Amino acid sequence: MGTRATLLGDPNARSVLKPTLEGSIRIAVVGLGHRAVGNAIRKTVEYDDYDLVAVCDLRPELVEKVTGDLAREHHLNVRGYTDYDQMLQEERLDAVAIHIDADKQVPLACQAMEAGLHVMTEVPAACSIADCWRLVTTVERTGKVYLLMEQTRFWGFIRAWREIVQSGVIGRPIYVEGEYVGYYGTWQMFQDREGRFYTAEQSRGNPDARPTWRHQLQPITYLVHELSPLLYILEDRVERVVAMSTRPRSYRHPEIERADIQLALMHTEKDAVMKLARGSNTPVIHRGETSHHWFHIKGTEGALEWKRADWDKPKLWVAGWQLQEPIAVPWSTSRMDGPKTAAGSGHGDADFYVFAQFADAVLRNTPHELDVYRSVETAAPAILAAKSVLDDNRPQDVPDFRPGPHRRPGELPKEMS
Ligand SMILES: NC(=O)c1ccc[n+]([C@@H]2O[C@H](COP(=O)([O-])OP(=O)(O)OC[C@H]3O[C@@H](n4cnc5c(N)ncnc54)[C@H](O)[C@@H]3O)[C@@H](O)[C@H]2O)c1
Repeated sequence: MGTRATLLGDPNARSVLKPTLEGSIRIAVVGLGHRAVGNAIRKTVEYDDYDLVAVCDLRPELVEKVTGDLAREHHLNVRGYTDYDQMLQEERLDAVAIHIDADKQVPLACQAMEAGLHVMTEVPAACSIADCWRLVTTVERTGKVYLLMEQTRFWGFIRAWREIVQSGVIGRPIYVEGEYVGYYGTWQMFQDREGRFYTAEQSRGNPDARPTWRHQLQPITYLVHELSPLLYILEDRVERVVAMSTRPRSYRHPEIERADIQLALMHTEKDAVMKLARGSNTPVIHRGETSHHWFHIKGTEGALEWKRADWDKPKLWVAGWQLQEPIAVPWSTSRMDGPKTAAGSGHGDADFYVFAQFADAVLRNTPHELDVYRSVETAAPAILAAKSVLDDNRPQDVPDFRPGPHRRPGELPKEMS
């Protein structure tokens, strides 16, 4: 037997249910850029729970390369498409995994669910409030499995922090910080018609190097790797947002028409305040295994904090414990309770859990923890932070996406923006 993507049957990992490990998901990977090739293509080939039958990208050269590599390296005959509609019509699929431009994922995801398929999409779940609603109501109407491929919530220290917070050790959480001020160079910011990427410097004076889809989105729209783990720890949701920004052009790379830093303040349903920062144009201090992600939670009786630098340690401090200074705790992104398959799966071992959750949900009928409501709750506050920046920093109220007296499941609300 090969490698399985499951959390069932592993008493440490989640549950003692005995899994039926038979079967596989006939899946297509859509969008063959950096993320899909480095993650979904590899995993749907590696894990027996998946049967990669088709791939799709608007760029024929990427389709050719990926299908050619799969044939050469894995002796797999995976069919390639440049037209998503045609692929849905011609292939007998159980699911699609969508990895296209972040602001274009939702229509394709909804089309697939309407056609009876289960869906995984990359992060963020949506880039507009209207798309959040479309996603929610389509999942409600179709009943298909929808999974947001957000992985940082599966990190070891995030799991530990949730237990600590929920057990009350640091009291009531009142102040939460998160930041993703990262820098990987500017190579994904400009692209020509043939698909070649250019850095900001290479784009200078080159009319073929056009801004990629990343320019369409304000940096603060991408807070998913902060909101997903933090709201999981707090068991909370954001109700109100206000945000500020540096000017909408980088100081370090003036070719990039995106702010260097944007900052959101958020208020949650359980009365915590959050300060979340996002930027991607300037070099930064490396924060250990999380690279550029950083977190702090202050409660009424103590605090938790991630490393400030590679040489630093994660910290726990509790007021009543007679501590002269915080305890340095050897937490990591890796999990002590994780299955062996998770090791080396990517992003501090977390990428495995996304595929295990999807396989367990589709093949073994086990509800996964990041349902569509929690998924859009990781997107909507960030979308509204970007709106606040454009709206003279005015506060924005986050809609409640769950059905209730005001909205029946499957029904769009009267107000969608
Ligand atoms: N979870 C993570 O850690 C993580 C990391 C990186 C990127 N991402 C997300 O992954 C997604 C893809 O990112 P990327 O860096 O690979 O982007 P990319 O621009 O390199 O690739 C996107 C690909 O989608 C294709 N595409 C666009 N519209 C299409 C359509 N209608 N049909 C078929 N193909 C289409 C494009 O031609 C392109 O090849 C984004 O949503 C991004 O936010 C997530």
